[in-house]
Amino acid sequence: MSVRVEVLAGASWADAVASELVARITADPTIRIVLPTGDTPSPAYRAIVARAARGEVDLGRATVLLLDEYLGLAPDDPARCEVRLRRELIDGLDSAPRFVPIRADDAPPTEAARAHDRAVVEGGIGLAIVGLGRNGHVGLNEPGSGHGAGTRVVELTASSAAAATTYGAGRPPSGGITLGIDRLLAADELWLLVTGSGKRDVLAAALEGPETTACPASFLRRHPRLTVFADAAAAAGLGGGAPSSLRAIV
Ligand code: PGA
Repeated sequence: MSVRVEVLAGASWADAVASELVARITADPTIRIVLPTGDTPSPAYRAIVARAARGEVDLGRATVLLLDEYLGLAPDDPARCEVRLRRELIDGLDSAPRFVPIRADDAPPTEAARAHDRAVVEGGIGLAIVGLGRNGHVGLNEPGSGHGAGTRVVELTASSAAAATTYGAGRPPSGGITLGIDRLLAADELWLLVTGSGKRDVLAAALEGPETTACPASFLRRHPRLTVFADAAAAAGLGGGAPSSLRAIV
């Protein structure tokens, strides 16, 4: 196992994530990237939009696939992952990537999940980026999800449904569709983005605790190229029983 942990202070966190993403896209302009939504990645997306406006990166030949989506929200609900990613990233780019949302309105949810899974598998994934839920979820792989979990329709925990309302949802979502942990582990490279003291304990559990379905993020350590981008507040609980290959860069 090789987990690289980048611990970055304050505002530079977003810039560092953006810089690495720009480097990946520059190295492989047709890269296929899975992207999350949430409060964590927002500043990094703002930094990417600013860099693209300065001509430092062009996402026009890349493909962006959505990590997960809520069910039961209006198509234009501001909390919808598709709506949010368009608002925070895609629509801000003059040269937009091909965007593959999860078509939760066009088909029964199980079919939408299958179609998204096919889209992911057919072209493969160069880089998958995920955030970390306070309950240890990744995407909407809620506690109870194992490393073999496939792309599927899921029930949300109360905390995930409540999070959607903090993102501005008009009503709590009735469920979700998420890429499975299996697909995240199959990506060429995997990044976990974590900021804030509220994620300190769950990040320590994910990286240093037992591998367990109680904390689905713990399975990400199986990936041979996992990089964790944490700010100092989120990384404050690391260090105890850190795996020997875990390297903190402060
Ligand atoms: P957040 O959500 O970025 O809004 O904290 C992360 C997640 O639940 O995956």
